[in-house]
Amino acid sequence: MKNILVKGPQKLQGSVKVSGAKNAALPIIAASLLTEKVVKLNNVPNLSDTQAMLDILESLGAKIKRYENTLEIKCDYISESKVGYELAERLRASVLYCGSLLGRFNKSSVSLPGGCAIGSRPIDQHINGFKALGAVVKISEGNINLDGELVGTDYHFSVKTVTGSANVIFAAVLASGRTTLTNVALEPEITDLCNFLIAIGAKIEGVGTGRLIIDGVKSLRGGEYSIMQDRIEAGTFLVGALITDGKVSISDFDFESNEPLLNKLRECGSVLAKEGNSITVSRGDYMVPVDIVTGEHPGFPTDLQAQFMVLNIILAGHSTIEEKIFENRFMHAAELSRMGAKIKVVGNIAHIDGGEHLLGTTVSSSDLRASIALILAGLAAKGETRVTNLHHLYRGYEKPVEKFAKLGVILEQEDI
Ligand code: EPU
Repeated sequence: MKNILVKGPQKLQGSVKVSGAKNAALPIIAASLLTEKVVKLNNVPNLSDTQAMLDILESLGAKIKRYENTLEIKCDYISESKVGYELAERLRASVLYCGSLLGRFNKSSVSLPGGCAIGSRPIDQHINGFKALGAVVKISEGNINLDGELVGTDYHFSVKTVTGSANVIFAAVLASGRTTLTNVALEPEITDLCNFLIAIGAKIEGVGTGRLIIDGVKSLRGGEYSIMQDRIEAGTFLVGALITDGKVSISDFDFESNEPLLNKLRECGSVLAKEGNSITVSRGDYMVPVDIVTGEHPGFPTDLQAQFMVLNIILAGHSTIEEKIFENRFMHAAELSRMGAKIKVVGNIAHIDGGEHLLGTTVSSSDLRASIALILAGLAAKGETRVTNLHHLYRGYEKPVEKFAKLGVILEQEDI
């Protein structure tokens, strides 16, 4: 893994093609296991996380062909319903195989994902959903073992969860009878997943709402589906334009699912130009930092919190960022302080005194979104910023160095 050396200041200028969404691709890859027919997926981002998900699928017996961003997956002969620790611990989304294996084979054994840097990330909502559908759940030796013929039921998520919603939907689409799920996550990636499942024959009503009615079918067919655009990557480049006082355009932009981001871009005074389905973002005459409270969709996405923190540091004025999804997602604050930012973190609220001129130094990324935020900070800073511990970056950003180059920015890769 190489470090990235950023020589600041540099501006993001131009247009960039945003990849398919990681957080839609991961559940859709797991869902491909629900059918024995061929599934063709387009716009799949080439990331270490999508590769880890495919490695698990292959270990179970799936046949996978890949042409650039297109995948052909055939799960006609699956020899295993067990995912061991070495494969499962590579990414937390491996927990999605609990639901897809259970849905298809009425049993699964998946090594439990541990905690991670940003929080403890419990899975009680997934487990309660599986139990409600009739699965017997046994947790032993670090594995979650599920067994049972599934029967449709009513299940209410007492906590809104993205991956939990996906997992219980997987279990319900092939269960016998009707399942009504309430308080389902409203994230656009869940809508994308449901649309994929419908494309291969699932019967789901209420897509895009918190109440899904799923009528179980005997089997699913094959089909072709294109993964939605990554709204977090899109948001990262748009905020990057403001951080660096540049101008960035993105085509095929989904204005509706990006409304929480667009609201904050308007609030801080930026200029948003819409042309057809393209957007261009640049600074307005009077820019102010914005207070942010993260929340479930349509709240402000936690995955854009670190990038906005950098913007709030650059713009003059006081602001707060309250993190309400994960208990430990401010580790970038300490690194940004080393570059000269004035941030005080009290509990889950970061207080930022903005208007700072950042100075480059060596900083270490703690998680995926922190890694890109530090690169953006390096672009705004004077001097050289060396960003280390970058394996996180490639989990969620496809060809970042090439895309930044397309926007006129040079990120030098250094051997460690
Ligand atoms: N929660 C529970 N019980 C559960 C499940 C979740 O209490 O059974 C709590 C969590 O502790 C957390 C909250 O509910 O406080 C939300 O967690 P959720 O399950 O929605 O998160 P996730 O599905 O594990 C996905 C994304 C994250 C993104 C969050 C929030 C994927 C693969 N991951 O995580 O993406 O931050 O939703 O939108 O879809 C990222 O891409 O950088 C990333 C971390």
